[in-house]
Amino acid sequence: MKNNQARRDFLIRVSSISAALTAGGILSACGGNETLMVNFDYGVASGDPLSDKVILWTHAKYQDLSDAVVLTWQVASDIEFSKIVSSGSAQASPDSGYTCKVDATGLSPNQTYFYRFKAGQHTSPIGKTKTLPIGSVSEVKLAVLSCSNYPAGFFNVYSEVGRSDVDVAVHLGDYIYEYAATGYASDTAASLGRTSVPANEILTLSDYRMRHAQYKSDADSKQFHANKPIIAVWDDHEFTNDTYKDGAENHTPATEGSFSVRKAAAIQAYHEWMPIRSGSDKAKIYRSFNFGNLISLHMLDTRSIGRDLQIEITDLINPAKQAAAVAALSSPTRQLLGTEQLQWVQTQMATSQATWQVLGQQVLMARMEFPVSILQALNSSDTSPQALAAGEKAISDYLTAKTKKGLGMQLSDSETALLNQAKLGYNLDAWDGYPAAREILLSTAAQLKKRLVVLAGDTHNAWHSNLTLMSGQKVGEEFATSSVSSPGLEAYLALPPAQVKAIFEGVVNDLKWMDSSRRGYLKLSITPAQVQGEWLFIDTISSRTYKVVTPTANEKRIYSA
Ligand SMILES: [Fe+2]
Repeated sequence: MKNNQARRDFLIRVSSISAALTAGGILSACGGNETLMVNFDYGVASGDPLSDKVILWTHAKYQDLSDAVVLTWQVASDIEFSKIVSSGSAQASPDSGYTCKVDATGLSPNQTYFYRFKAGQHTSPIGKTKTLPIGSVSEVKLAVLSCSNYPAGFFNVYSEVGRSDVDVAVHLGDYIYEYAATGYASDTAASLGRTSVPANEILTLSDYRMRHAQYKSDADSKQFHANKPIIAVWDDHEFTNDTYKDGAENHTPATEGSFSVRKAAAIQAYHEWMPIRSGSDKAKIYRSFNFGNLISLHMLDTRSIGRDLQIEITDLINPAKQAAAVAALSSPTRQLLGTEQLQWVQTQMATSQATWQVLGQQVLMARMEFPVSILQALNSSDTSPQALAAGEKAISDYLTAKTKKGLGMQLSDSETALLNQAKLGYNLDAWDGYPAAREILLSTAAQLKKRLVVLAGDTHNAWHSNLTLMSGQKVGEEFATSSVSSPGLEAYLALPPAQVKAIFEGVVNDLKWMDSSRRGYLKLSITPAQVQGEWLFIDTISSRTYKVVTPTANEKRIYSA
């Protein structure tokens, strides 16, 4: 011990005498690099809190050396670190892209803690985190987030969540996007100084690591992660657009190689860069969190582990392809979660004693069904004024018939036919494309008499819907968050947002409220009596100076089952 200390002292003196000393090899050989500059370029993060432990994350690298960095970490109950309650050592090695994750144990429930990493004389930024409560819990506050797109704009929503009073942030995926620098949502990226790195669409482990690093280099992301523990699941863009278990819309094997190789790279980088508790099978990320007796939060993977290939809506309304598409869509064995995950979540719900069963997952579960007459009119590739007018007429004819029925007025035969026609979900990448799987999951909650709340992201817009069985029986409610920065319907529809909102809320039976144009997050305040969802929107992502839009009464919505 003494010899080691003497040797270290000597090395520190040598190093300070000559800053230019190329001492990396010598220092490594002696078992320490304490005097070399260590950078914590991506801050710190915490995640997957339980009542007694939490994952702590950082990235550490020597300035000009590729060796692993030996780290110590500390968790304290005070920001001065005078009351250290848990500590240990770890490594940030080239094998993990210089990321480091530890599971800090021995913590107490419902406590705020401070944490940091050290490498010799260099210390990471300090992070703040919180463990989950146990027993009788009167209230939990969650932020629900999704779709943080770096080139699209600033992460002001992250900044807001970091400063908020929520206990935990739940990120429902699209934490990164895979596109090339000139791809999706990059129109203003260069002028905002947010051009994607690497410039190519990400394919390899090195690419995925670089993209994760760029997202975590963002100042608002650092502030967010340093202030709130997160519970995250991936959606498609952590892999590539419209991923399913064996492929993706945005993957071409002929030119981009094996999908399974790409998927493995994406999974590895995700586990390296996200503060998630990694098991032996890193492809499996579904897991539960208990907030005492108040909430069981079951985080699901609707994206990569069990999902069958998506069905194209154009096939369903094309007479030549309709029969096969309908057969696939209505198959009783069609999977979104896969059989193993479905059984797991059924068991989790059955054994949970919590007041609320909350499913944290990616895509809209509520029926977002449109009459075929409207889908056919809107799906036309013809964008002439006449075609758009025909689309508007299809909507207004249907809404007129629906309104008249609601008022008990006499309907014409054509109006009755409009109301009785078949309906389809407008987005078959969501649960609407997997109706049998949805019915099984919702029936489970109904049979167990559970109070069900479903959280969703993916769409870049905000939604509040009833969750119903095919019989019409209500089972629960869905609260879906807008995006941190990805563009929503306003980027694709030429109609004013108020009109888009009126169409969706008018046509879709189970939809109670939606916002069609703003970026933000969903704040959930959950008590034994109710779940309150409040959508907090910001006024811009084009500047780091922004305002939070004061929610209207209608943007604070309550479910009390
Ligand atoms: Fe997204």
